Amino acid sequence: MTIDNTEGARAQIGVTGLAVMGSNIARNFARHGHTVALHNRSIAKTDALIAEHGSEGDFVRTETIEEFVGALQKPRRVLIMVKAGDPTDAVIEELAAAMEPGDIIIDGGNALYTDTIRREASLRERGLHFVGAGISGGEEGALNGPSIMPGGPKESYAALGPLLESIAAQVDGTPCCTHIGPDGSGHFVKMVHNGIEYADMQLIGEAYNLLGSALGYDAGKIADVFTEWNGGDLESYLVEITAEVLRQTDAKTGKPLVDVIVDAAEQKGTGRWTVKSALDLGVPVTGIAEAVFARALSGSRQQRKAAVGLASGVLADKPTDAAQFTEDIRQALYASKVVAYAQGFDQIAAGSAEYDWDLHPADLATIWRGGCIIRARFLNRIKDAYDENPTLPSLILAPYFRDAIETAIDSWRRVVSTATLLGIPVPAFASSLSYYDALRAERLPAALTQGQRDFFGAHTYERVDAEGKFHTLWSGDRSEVRA
Ligand code: 6PG
Repeated sequence: MTIDNTEGARAQIGVTGLAVMGSNIARNFARHGHTVALHNRSIAKTDALIAEHGSEGDFVRTETIEEFVGALQKPRRVLIMVKAGDPTDAVIEELAAAMEPGDIIIDGGNALYTDTIRREASLRERGLHFVGAGISGGEEGALNGPSIMPGGPKESYAALGPLLESIAAQVDGTPCCTHIGPDGSGHFVKMVHNGIEYADMQLIGEAYNLLGSALGYDAGKIADVFTEWNGGDLESYLVEITAEVLRQTDAKTGKPLVDVIVDAAEQKGTGRWTVKSALDLGVPVTGIAEAVFARALSGSRQQRKAAVGLASGVLADKPTDAAQFTEDIRQALYASKVVAYAQGFDQIAAGSAEYDWDLHPADLATIWRGGCIIRARFLNRIKDAYDENPTLPSLILAPYFRDAIETAIDSWRRVVSTATLLGIPVPAFASSLSYYDALRAERLPAALTQGQRDFFGAHTYERVDAEGKFHTLWSGDRSEVRA
């Protein structure tokens, strides 16, 4: 039903930016009984939403920002669903000028968390609440229940939380939405979520490539393998849709659709942001980085074209026991996925410490169980692990994951070594395994790195048997001095 805006301020929430994500979220609010004020730069989108979906709930049609803000109950709550970057700043400015202290602006786009920190600080000075909320689940999730990661001031959550929780996905009666922490923490957590999404997708891609290249399976047969895997520990949204994509036939050629899609993966930037932030924080998110670089490499079309036919030096026969190798790939996928999540949670812990956010990993695992792109059965296990030990040094040290990797380790090594001998690229499988091996090593070659640094730059080193910093007089008599 469309409510005439002359009826005064009666909408519980306003949504501005009515492209697909914005309109689906607005409909989701309306379907849950909230009156939703609608605003868009061009009124045509607002009218189209009302014409097509007006019967789903109560919408207030508004044309100007003043009218939009005037339609909202206090404290006013406005969700911005516009393009990240300058368009977001422009809308915030317009809204802020029309709003009053105590009102809440929520940015539901994929904003860079440092922008969110800046915006939150500047709006706070004007008495307004700014909430950067990561929203995951794509178009379908926006309509039927996304996972929502709101940051911003805790006080604002009292007025906002129940609304957001009502439209979020629910798992075991728990909404996939909770207050993440102050200022930009919601968008930071969403960014890392996307980084994990990249790693997960890359690992699935490597598994698909191995099944095709090492075992000669076609897309349909690989789809069946993924469907079977989805019935076990790997059960997840991404594994489920992988089978669906692989099963799709191209209407034009009759071939599997995946075989006619150009093999150059694009990226909008959140994976890259995750890696940049990890570099700044000094956290080795090797799986995510490999995934970002693998997309970049796939897109280097000219170089790739020129390199086709370079020596491969194949040193192994293809696996003869297809069932065993398929199981090996499943195990390698699972173990590598554990590493990717472990690294993502490390980055979240580092971000939390750097910005003093006091983030709770168990809460994140809880709200990622449903609605979002990385939703997966094993998030229950991650939640259990952090519930049991909130200061777990690494997810792979939790008893459940430690055992899972112990079960998978031989398969994991067989997959990486076979792929290497056959010349099949497995950057994420291989780097995850190397990360695991490095983490569990008693000694690393970093000792030599320290020696070299001291040699050429007098950068000093620590000793295993004494406190303090030391330097060897490399160009003198090579005795050691305390630095
Ligand atoms: C989500 C998705 C969503 C979007 C990605 C795609 O959680 O709903 O992550 O945010 O689909 O940003 O990212 P790329 O275009 O970079 O693959």
